[in-house]
Parts: sequence; C-alpha cells; structure tokens
Amino acid sequence: MSAYKVIAVAGAGNLGMYIVRELLAAKAAGTIDGVVVLTRYIVPVSYAPEAIDTLTAALASHGVDALVSTLSHKANALSVQPVLARAAHAAGVRLFVPSEFGNPTAQHAGGAGVFGQKGNFQGELKELGLPSAVFYTGPFSDQIFKEFLGWDIENGKVEAGADGNVPVSYTARKDVARFVVYALTTQPPAELEWRTFRIEGDRKTMNELFAAYQVKTGKTLNPRYLPEDELAQTLKKNPGDFARMLQLSWVQHGGTVGRVDELDNGAYAEWNPASVVDLLV
Ligand SMILES: NC(=O)c1ccc[n+]([C@@H]2O[C@H](COP(=O)([O-])OP(=O)(O)OC[C@H]3O[C@@H](n4cnc5c(N)ncnc54)[C@H](OP(=O)(O)O)[C@@H]3O)[C@@H](O)[C@H]2O)c1
Repeated sequence: MSAYKVIAVAGAGNLGMYIVRELLAAKAAGTIDGVVVLTRYIVPVSYAPEAIDTLTAALASHGVDALVSTLSHKANALSVQPVLARAAHAAGVRLFVPSEFGNPTAQHAGGAGVFGQKGNFQGELKELGLPSAVFYTGPFSDQIFKEFLGWDIENGKVEAGADGNVPVSYTARKDVARFVVYALTTQPPAELEWRTFRIEGDRKTMNELFAAYQVKTGKTLNPRYLPEDELAQTLKKNPGDFARMLQLSWVQHGGTVGRVDELDNGAYAEWNPASVVDLLV
C-alpha cells in the first residue's frame, strides 16, 4: 500500500492525463484510495492568490497527501505553482511533484524563461518546507518529433542542432506516468522527499536516431543541420521560440537528464520504456 493514499494532479493535460490514467489504475488495484484532479473548469479551482483559501479547502477536503503538478509551461501557467504550493502546504499535503518533466532545471534558478521559472520554483518549495520529488525525463519521445522541431519524417525531412552528435535523453509520456506513479505509490516518503529522479527511456544522438530509423524502415532521411550560432541568433530575435530554445540547450549538452551513472531508472526494476525508434516507426 502506498504511503500516500490520496494523490492529486493539477492540470491534467498533455502529460497529466497519462498520470491520471496510471493513478486510476493504482486506485483500481487498491494501491491508493483516491485520485483528485484539479482543473479550472470541471470542479473549478482558481490558482489566483486571492483564492488561496478556497484552493486549500479543496485540497484539505479531499484529504490530498501528495500532489503532482503537470501545469503547462505555456500561457505562464507555471507562475501559479507558488500559490498551489502554499495552498498544498496549508492543506497538509506531504509531497509536491513540481511541473518539471524535461531537461534538468535546478541549475537555471535565478534565470528567466521556462527553465528559470522551474528552477526557481524548486527553491521556493525548499523555502516553504514542502518536500518535493522532481522528475527529469528529457523530451517526450512520443510527442516532439513533429513540425514543432522542423520534422516531417514521412517525407524524410528532419532537423538536428549542430553536427547531430550530442546525446539527448528521451522518455514517452506513458512511461513518464508509469514511473512517477510507481515511485509515488511504492516508495516510502524517505525515498521520495527532496529527491531528484533522473530517468530516461532512451539516450541517443540525432545521428544515431536517423541511422536507426533508416535501418529499421529502409527509408531515407535528409537531415538539415542547424549550426549552434544560427540557433542562438534565431532565439535572440525571438526569445519565445521554445523549439529553438530546446534545440540550443540540447546542443549545449542540456538535453540529458544526467550522467549515465546518475540515472534512477533502476528504482523501478520492471520499467521497460519504449525506445525512440520504436515510437518513430
Ligand atoms: N519533455 C517534454 O518534451 C515536454 C513536452 C511538453 C511538456 N513538458 C512539461 O510537462 C509539464 C506539463 O506540460 P503539458 O504539456 O502536459 O501541459 P498542458 O497540456 O499544456 O497543460 C496542462 C494543464 O495546465 C493547466 N493550465 C493551462 N494554462 C493555465 C493557466 N494559465 N493557469 C493555470 N493552469 C493552466 C490546464 O489545466 P485545466 O485547464 O484543467 O486547469 C492544462 O490542461 C510542463 O512542465 C512542461 O514543461 C515536457
């Protein structure tokens, strides 16, 4: 039985819906007692600072023990996490999983942009004294290889930063959800509180991906390589270009969740995440 009996998810969207599904499976299996989904629309909660008492009451009335934030990195949604954390703390929530789920961000604390915001928030949880469990996963392998990154793989069009030889960690959303829910529902608080999990379903350079895809499908890819300074220039002109920001960070070795010897994949021995190439095919 899980140390956390009622687990809430704030912002069940693109990633959160997978986490909700895994939590519902854990509830069906009797591992946890309840799943609470915080949303601004169905059981309305507001994350506005003036509504913090209502938010606290919503969490307390459902007896939420642990809260997973999968709030969007878009529309400045991450800016509401401090309010959510204060409400969670006041409501007796014992573990807060911040909306991370990508590249490591702690080193960006004090900086701007999405990474800065995520890194700063980790510090705010510490100041608040609300234990956190952070999950770094790398980019979502089932989602990102699309137009967003300048890819049209059906027609052989792919892009890579620099020479395509820098490794990046990847994990599919379902595998992220499986790992997070496994950790929350099987590990004791001492193994979760203030812990950073560095997990990856796969680790590949772009060139390795291209080669594996071509071998597996017999199709030809025509990569376009984007020099690092070109990525930096594009980003300078448009700091909101999230895709270029990611590509630049990967080129600069920010795309792996950590060193191979730092990986926490082993914390879930039966975890069998999908490889990127299998997902691409
Ligand atoms: N590694 C990757 O490749 C990758 C890719 C995408 C995302 N991520 C990360 O995963 C996390 C979740 O992202 P996501 O794509 O799953 O998010 P999302 O689907 O864009 O949004 C999740 C939820 O956030 C809530 N929300 C949106 N705007 C809001 C606002 N202004 N104020 C308060 N709540 C708001 C909405 O919930 P309600 O409408 O129900 O309130 C929405 O369903 C983020 O940290 C993101 O950076 C990583």
